Amino acid sequence: MEIKLLFLSTLVLLVCCIARNNFDHFLLVQTWPHGYCERIQRNCSIRNYFVIHGLWPVTAKGKAFLSRKRKRVNVSDTIGRGNLFKDMRYYWPGLTKTDLNLWEDQWFAHGSDSPLVPLDYFQRTIQLRKLVDLVKALRDVGIVPRYKGFTHHKSTYRQGIMKITGHNNTILKCYSSKRGHLLSEVMLCVDADARNFIDCNPEEFQQQNCGPDILFSKVKTM
Ligand SMILES: *[C@@H]1O[C@H](CO)[C@@H](O)[C@H](O)[C@H]1NC(C)=O
Ligand SMILES: *[C@@H]1O[C@H](CO)[C@@H](O)[C@H](O)[C@H]1NC(C)=O
Ligand SMILES: *[C@@H]1O[C@H](CO)[C@@H](O)[C@H](O)[C@H]1NC(C)=O
Repeated sequence: MEIKLLFLSTLVLLVCCIARNNFDHFLLVQTWPHGYCERIQRNCSIRNYFVIHGLWPVTAKGKAFLSRKRKRVNVSDTIGRGNLFKDMRYYWPGLTKTDLNLWEDQWFAHGSDSPLVPLDYFQRTIQLRKLVDLVKALRDVGIVPRYKGFTHHKSTYRQGIMKITGHNNTILKCYSSKRGHLLSEVMLCVDADARNFIDCNPEEFQQQNCGPDILFSKVKTM
């Protein structure tokens, strides 16, 4: 009897914890180059729009989902030289490394852990990015890039972005500098098929590291 109980509780424990570490959905991670390059300092290729960092498979709690099938792929062969390549050069440029290095590294570190095949991974990431113009979403709630001053409350950022995604799915990441909390990345929860935005689970918001007031920054030279 006791042994049976022990067995049963072990089983429950196993099922719970394996399930908890399963792939659940994706995060579309976008970088604000002005915030990111502030931290990098060296040779960072600034853009005036949000660029893709990657599409990351995560568990239900928003932790990195790690499979054991990581492997590299020849990205040039995968994406060819057509429209997908052009879109990737625009929306997914390497700010501190070559575009191709970034794409290869993102496929290796994240894409290959996901259920998607390489071509779908790159295509769907671009399609998702095209659905959301975050600079416009922020401008619509009165947030425009500034060198300093003019911070806005994090709830204003989230409102502006949630208006275009239609979901409570905006995770904000900042870089703390002398000028305050500079927005550096926006992560959006995306379904397991990498096609639609979804609400994030409440736990996922814990990885936000911005203070209450955030600067949508611009580097000085502009
Ligand atoms: C900075 O970028 C330019 C143009 O991409 C390159 O020629 C130069 O070698 C880079 N410098 C450093 C220090 O990486
Ligand atoms: C990827 O494929 C292209 C074209 O087939 C080839 O020229 C290139 O050397 C390959 N890259 C790597 C890293 O193997
Ligand atoms: C979004 O979700 C978080 C976490 O569950 C919650 O605290 C917050 O109130 C929600 N915001 C809106 C606008 O629904």
